Amino acid sequence: MITILGIETSCDETAAAVVEDGRTLRSNVVASQIELHRRYGGVFPEMASRQHVLAITPVIREAMEQAGKAWSDLDAIAVTEGPGLAGSLLVGLNAAKGLALAHGIPLIGVNHLESHIYANWLPTDDASGQADAAFVPPPLPLVCLIVSGGHTDLILMREHHDYVLLGRTIDDAAGEAFDKVARLLGLDYPGGPSIQRAAAEGDPTAYDLPRALDVGPYDFSFSGLKTAVLRLVQELRRARGEEVADRGETLAEASLEGAGDGLPIADLAASFQAAVVDALVTKTVQAVEHHDAVQVLVAGGVAANALLRAEMRRRLPVPVRFPPIRFCTDNAAMVAMAGYHLYVAGKRSDLSLDVAPSLRLV
Ligand code: KG4
Ligand code: ZN
Repeated sequence: MITILGIETSCDETAAAVVEDGRTLRSNVVASQIELHRRYGGVFPEMASRQHVLAITPVIREAMEQAGKAWSDLDAIAVTEGPGLAGSLLVGLNAAKGLALAHGIPLIGVNHLESHIYANWLPTDDASGQADAAFVPPPLPLVCLIVSGGHTDLILMREHHDYVLLGRTIDDAAGEAFDKVARLLGLDYPGGPSIQRAAAEGDPTAYDLPRALDVGPYDFSFSGLKTAVLRLVQELRRARGEEVADRGETLAEASLEGAGDGLPIADLAASFQAAVVDALVTKTVQAVEHHDAVQVLVAGGVAANALLRAEMRRRLPVPVRFPPIRFCTDNAAMVAMAGYHLYVAGKRSDLSLDVAPSLRLV
């Protein structure tokens, strides 16, 4: 049996999990800092790393206890080395290095984006952690769309750990656009779930927003969309007789508390969400048509979006997979799963492993 402890601290979740044989999830502990960062409308890096320092030991201990494992049972410790916030990554990485050194356990540095992809190999969404007997691992080659708070990448995955970049965002990540537009509309952080909730009551055709489909065939751009929503909000506020600074007002300046009061938030949220999803699905369909992918994987926090899940299923010519919702946003089960596949492929890191805040997958 191969037992891997995964550790994740790249952003604002402190997480640890134990996976056996790349099939059974023995524990999955996530300490979220969302409440802490909500009042700032985004992640406050200094506070995030301090919070990781407080949470990391209890979170790892709980993951080991829930799994019923001793240190001697572990075959490797897999830890996120990047990309992410340097101060946050350092906490998990140093904890992993200390444990590896103290207990003589192999260490494996994991790319955060690769771990999001491997969330699709987690064969369970029930509390027991037992693999679903009918689970079939994703067949290769496949087209993979990574949509998170920091990344929007279309990748061809030919083999395990063999990736070709097809395209990526030329400006904001999809999740970042959700977060910024949510702030503009006066909705809570994180923006994705707030926009999804608000959009449920709205009309996605209320406003015709740009899709930026004319960037590269597999590239994305969300900054024009974000600015279009800002201009629309300014127009709506002006039409209500409010004093609104002219084109000089930036998104950050407009994102004041209560900015959304009295605006048609549901229609704005629904129209924005429809535009993001349309761009993501259109480019993914194009990528599938031009490469012989047998399946599509969607990964990262935005993969939790219900409209994205529905539209991908409706418009793609091949089957599409998403991780169970709880494994879409940051967690350590996906790190342990990626760690298992890297372990089997022979990857080991030494104790000189350092954080890599700008690490790329391809
Ligand atoms: O993968 P993740 O947890 O962290 C990063 O690696 O960035 O992704 C977080 C992002 C945030 O931008 C959040 O707003 C977005 O995922 N997100 C969603 C949803 N849930 C989380 N975006 C759209 N719809 C959702 N339901
Ligand atoms: Zn992430």
